[in-house]
Amino acid sequence: MKKVIGSAIAILAAGKGTRLKSKRAKVLHEIGGKPLLQHVIDAALTNTPPERIFVVVGHQAEEVERAVRHTGVHFIRQTEQLGTGHAVQCLQEAVGAHKDLLVLSGDAPLIRPETMERLREFHHAQQAAMTILTARPANAFGYGRVLRVSAGSPEVAAIVEQKSLTGEQHRINEINSGIYMFRTEALYRHIDALRPNNAQGEYYLTDMAELLRNAGERVVALETEDATEVLGANTIAEMMHLDAEMRMAAARHLMAMGVTIYRPETCVIDGDVSVGADTIIEPFVQLLGKTQVGEDCRIRSYSVIQNSTLGNGVLVRNSCVLEQASVCDGALIGPYAHLRPESHIGRGAHVGNFVETKKTRLGDGSKANHLAYLGDSNIGPGCNIGAGVITCNYDGTHKHLTQIGEGVFVGSNSTLVAPVALEDGCYVAAASCVTENVPQGALALGRARQVIKPGWAERRAKMQKAKGVRKRTPSAATERTS
Ligand code: UD1
Ligand code: CA
Repeated sequence: MKKVIGSAIAILAAGKGTRLKSKRAKVLHEIGGKPLLQHVIDAALTNTPPERIFVVVGHQAEEVERAVRHTGVHFIRQTEQLGTGHAVQCLQEAVGAHKDLLVLSGDAPLIRPETMERLREFHHAQQAAMTILTARPANAFGYGRVLRVSAGSPEVAAIVEQKSLTGEQHRINEINSGIYMFRTEALYRHIDALRPNNAQGEYYLTDMAELLRNAGERVVALETEDATEVLGANTIAEMMHLDAEMRMAAARHLMAMGVTIYRPETCVIDGDVSVGADTIIEPFVQLLGKTQVGEDCRIRSYSVIQNSTLGNGVLVRNSCVLEQASVCDGALIGPYAHLRPESHIGRGAHVGNFVETKKTRLGDGSKANHLAYLGDSNIGPGCNIGAGVITCNYDGTHKHLTQIGEGVFVGSNSTLVAPVALEDGCYVAAASCVTENVPQGALALGRARQVIKPGWAERRAKMQKAKGVRKRTPSAATERTS
């Protein structure tokens, strides 16, 4: 789509969000893995450069600006939140010189760039001073209603807020989305005529419809095809409804690309996630952030994968947690594995039950199948890391590296005290405490020698009998009362 020159976008995001009953500003609440405002900015940025996007901030302005500053948009402060009309008044100096102004609401995050373009085109075709994007949702309660001049006419006489509806007006099901196009010159020529003479004592931007029409300007409405797109988020429940809509849309998009998602309504999938064809996602899986999953994978139930990259043919068994991990083709993860940031799992490698990795590279075909902690380690290909192996990477002050070469066998329950290196093809005997480097092909034994005391059990039993010690056997009765 072509870049729009000559028009600006305003995003209203200064309000407190009183109806949320939250300490955090409304536009910072997250749905679909991103703050509400970030969704609106992302949609705006699709066709408009950040220099032409102006965000009105006020309540918790610093926090709001910090959250979205990276996008490069401008911020305009509305120090007192006197209403949506007042918010647009605050923008006059910044946007007055642009030909048109598209006004978006920071709390209507599902708006699509295509719809903004349609609104823009309609506005120009209608040669209007104000064009209102409208919708007919199943439940219009709470929204401002649009009074058309007559049924079927594009022209609008006024917008009436929920609290000001009278008699028959309650039956109007066409709502104001809070998204508008204005001819800036007409908007600012008349905006000072707004008066806060309403239920909330605020300057309503919606009053511009009647004001402009009374001044002889053309005010029209364009109805969206899909009412969900303009739904607002004024309460936590409304927000969670939008969150579900958004996640479901992401799931539907993936399914259209050949991904099988069982019970998609139970999965949480962020909009930026990509998944290859023929991958199967089981119920209750979460794929978050910028996660990328290849083809022919299977992600079993209850796994949560965040900002991670999986190759093709990867099997993630039940209840794994992956954060900023990368997993190569054909690897097998879990169940109950925890891959923490900077874990790199090689081709065909196995990370099994209750294994935790962090800043660790596990080479191609290497296996750590049970109960291990591998942190700050670099493990070559074809290694076998036994059950219960632990890299002791932390000395209380600093983190140290464990280097393991190719084809190394680390026996179960060994502790590798870093910094330490195990060279290619060496063996570590089970239950060793390894504090020194192990040379290539060597066997390291680092454990106390076993002592055998023949007949000890019988001697003990005799001693206890002499002292009158009786063996206690638990029973259902004692278990229940203790
Ligand atoms: C508004 C519209 C209503 C419409 C609905 C759609 C008005 C008077 N009403 O109502 O007709 O159906 O949106 O969702 O405009 N804001 C500021 N500064 C302020 C007040 C609000 O920046 O002084 C921002 C808010 O942060 C929010 C947006 O403007 O992002 C809309 O404000 P909100 O109070 O949510 O308006 P609604 O009551 O939903
Ligand atoms: Ca709102």
